[in-house]
Amino acid sequence: MSQNHGSKGFIVVSNRLPVVLEEQNGTLSVKSGSGGLISALSPALRDRGGSWIGWLGTSETVRIKHIKSLLGPISSQSGYRLLPIFMTHQEVKLFYQGFCNEIVWPLFHDLQSRCRFDPTYWDTYLKVNQKFAKVTVKHSDRWNLIWVNDYHLIPLGKMLRDKRPNCAFFLHIPFPPPDIFMKLPWRQQVMEQLLSYRLTAFQTDRDADNFLRCFKELNPRSRVMTRKGGGRGFKLSHQWETVVGAFPISIDFRYFEGLAKSPAVRKKADQIRRAHQGRRIMLGIDRLDYTKGILERFRAFELLLQRDPSLLGKVTLVQLLVPSREDVTSYRNLREEIDREAGRIIGRFATLDWIPITYMYQSVGQEDLAALYRAAHVGLVTSLKDGMNLVSKEYCACHPDNDGVLILSEFAGSAVELGAGAITVNPYDMEGMANAMQKALFMPDEERKRRMSLMRRRIKGWDVFRWMDSFLNTAAGLTLSSLPKREL
Ligand code: G6P
Repeated sequence: MSQNHGSKGFIVVSNRLPVVLEEQNGTLSVKSGSGGLISALSPALRDRGGSWIGWLGTSETVRIKHIKSLLGPISSQSGYRLLPIFMTHQEVKLFYQGFCNEIVWPLFHDLQSRCRFDPTYWDTYLKVNQKFAKVTVKHSDRWNLIWVNDYHLIPLGKMLRDKRPNCAFFLHIPFPPPDIFMKLPWRQQVMEQLLSYRLTAFQTDRDADNFLRCFKELNPRSRVMTRKGGGRGFKLSHQWETVVGAFPISIDFRYFEGLAKSPAVRKKADQIRRAHQGRRIMLGIDRLDYTKGILERFRAFELLLQRDPSLLGKVTLVQLLVPSREDVTSYRNLREEIDREAGRIIGRFATLDWIPITYMYQSVGQEDLAALYRAAHVGLVTSLKDGMNLVSKEYCACHPDNDGVLILSEFAGSAVELGAGAITVNPYDMEGMANAMQKALFMPDEERKRRMSLMRRRIKGWDVFRWMDSFLNTAAGLTLSSLPKREL
């Protein structure tokens, strides 16, 4: 990349740092984290140098010095600086669990009935963003490109704009249509905050269009221009323009493909298939989250078994649920409901030598993950709504023999790229999902290979590095060389 992002490289800011803090017998340690955002940004920061600012996922404020010293060695290993933000217990409750996960997360996934619009959440949302702003200013210079990630940090660009005018924002989750967005009590402020970046980026055109429609509804007299070379310019004053565009995130395709081809993973995948005694394996891998459509998937599987008894004993749904947001009540409730539903369906159909659902509640390492993907005849992604969904892409990357069928929700961002090769489903349509499962299990070899090869080509051609370059080059091309006057 030709642009100079300042003397300290570029700065990534996200709610979480790409590490997790662990405590065992009173001893603290830090280890590398996992997840889509981390796998996407780490390689770029490592290659280009820079800093990552974020939270360690704890309300630990007593041993701050000790925690900071633990980050030193990890920073040198990873090749970029890790700069922690500390939050009090109350801030975690009102900012992270409250505003982020009880307002923005459900609302932006079209689930407004799950929202709790508590006004104290908003105050703490701003307060915590101020903390992020302070650390960002301290560790950057005026012309650094600052890449702000996701819904936790929407206000940051506006807070930084006078001192750090070159901020770009990427929303990893969907952006809702006006009927939903207008329910947000702070809609005007949030819109204004999103327009304080040089670049405001979404996963898909649908999200960018939704944003445009909300903007028009809130600012009926403002102008939106289509820009040469892509994106739309939102000109709020003659000195400040925000460019809006869609940049679908992706995966490190070669890494996952290489992993799936490795002898260790092939061996593990064979073991998994043998353990299932030649039965067809349908696989779901998700964070335990109500947006993922896990109950809907289980019920569709139940309907499939009920409708076609010849499948009894011939197919197993393997579901890996990665623990998530366990301190948020709705997530705890969902877990109980999933336990109940899985138990009920198992009780209904299991025989002495077959259990219809194998359900694990844990995180697994990358090798086990790749082995599960590779062993599965069918991959199930049935999100009620999803920004992108990297599991759908990882599943394809782990099928180098083009063997495997992907069932994909039409409401996942990845359906735009993978819809032509996947069997797409409406996760609210239980019969449609059962039909899709039937079709996937009986798909002829030739069709299966053709579809998988199409999806794999798409992902390979637009991997995480292309995504990164495209976002960074667009953002760098929009940076200012002198400060605009504030007019917002
Ligand atoms: C989604 C969000 C990320 C978030 C991740 C895990 O993918 O877009 O920003 O980090 O979920 O959720 P958590 O609340 O544990 O950070």
